[in-house]
Amino acid sequence: MNSRDRFLKTAQLEKADRPPVWLMRQAGRYLPEYRELKSKYDFITLVKTPELATEITLQPLKRFPLDAAIIFSDILVIPEALGQPYNFRDGGGIQMEYCLSNKSQIEALDDSAITEKLNYVSEALKLTKKSIGDTKALLGFCGSPWTLACYMIDGGSSPDFSRTAQFAQRNPKEFSLLMEKLSQSIIHYLNMQIDAGVDCVQIFDSWASVCTESNYYSQSLKWIQIIINGLKKPIPVILYAKGMNHCLNQQLKTGAKILSLDWTISLKDAARETNNQCALQGNLDPQFLTTDPSTVKKETESLLKISESLKGHIFNLGHGMLPTAKVECVEALLETVTNYRYG
Ligand code: CP3
Repeated sequence: MNSRDRFLKTAQLEKADRPPVWLMRQAGRYLPEYRELKSKYDFITLVKTPELATEITLQPLKRFPLDAAIIFSDILVIPEALGQPYNFRDGGGIQMEYCLSNKSQIEALDDSAITEKLNYVSEALKLTKKSIGDTKALLGFCGSPWTLACYMIDGGSSPDFSRTAQFAQRNPKEFSLLMEKLSQSIIHYLNMQIDAGVDCVQIFDSWASVCTESNYYSQSLKWIQIIINGLKKPIPVILYAKGMNHCLNQQLKTGAKILSLDWTISLKDAARETNNQCALQGNLDPQFLTTDPSTVKKETESLLKISESLKGHIFNLGHGMLPTAKVECVEALLETVTNYRYG
């Protein structure tokens, strides 16, 4: 069975020979070949140059036997295309060029010609597809409207995104206008990714936990549901909502077929909670990749043991790879998963 078949079978809740495996932020600072390109070009140039984005997408696939490629890009290309550019703070984290704080700024966001403005992502996907063919699954992605709004309203990375939480509470009309603009832009963007050949998309709701349980649907999930309903082809959608393990069944109402779990819930509990109705992705703690190969092997084996009893399981991390991850630990993870077979 090739990697793409294994991935698609699992996403359709059919049992493959073993769980397919890919790793969030597999491109990144832990790989010397990425750091070398990064020393020559700034991050945004890498994202906007299809040949470079393709090269970075393929870097981890050259080293490790991954079943899927995730396109190298960023969730913040959407705000950038709407007219709110981003940059990196010296001490780490994201800085947007300004904070969104009123109705006229939201109205001024230019949501025309999204696919033209983001054509560089389409080009990178097509180049990547040309290189991997049908051997590996190709994954696209986007940020959820809520998570993008967090960066846009708070003006960059924040420990708690309190400005966004307050804005959504106090200005429901303006908040809805922003969410509608983001959702429609993302629908165009994901449909462009589908046209470019992605097999599956992951929606990152990395800051879902800023929402309370009672407003999680109206502030975040509702908009994700609108996006999933707007897709031109019924490709599988993976939803990653960090810190929201107490709301897995609410997440399934969006139409997402696969839930990607952070590392704080056991796969077993998540399967029980969701009645084993969906495929689960995850959820090794990314910290383990900074330890040593034998620890990684042991922890990976314990997840594989549970994998056996799941309806569908895609092996992944519980969050993106840390810059301090060790290559030999990533090798140990992949060796353990790819040598495993369901009984
Ligand atoms: O897995 C992959 O390699 C795909 C590419 C990818 C990137 N960002 C590349 C990237 C994906 C899927 C993302 C998603 C993303 N970007 C999210 C959602 C996932 C998550 O981590 O929760 C978020 C919140 C962002 C916004 C963002 N981009 C942040 C917070 C940062 C880190 C800033 C910092 O100073 O630490 C980035 C930068 C980024 N995006 C890097 C990569 C490889 C590191 C850039 C570098 O310094 O080389």
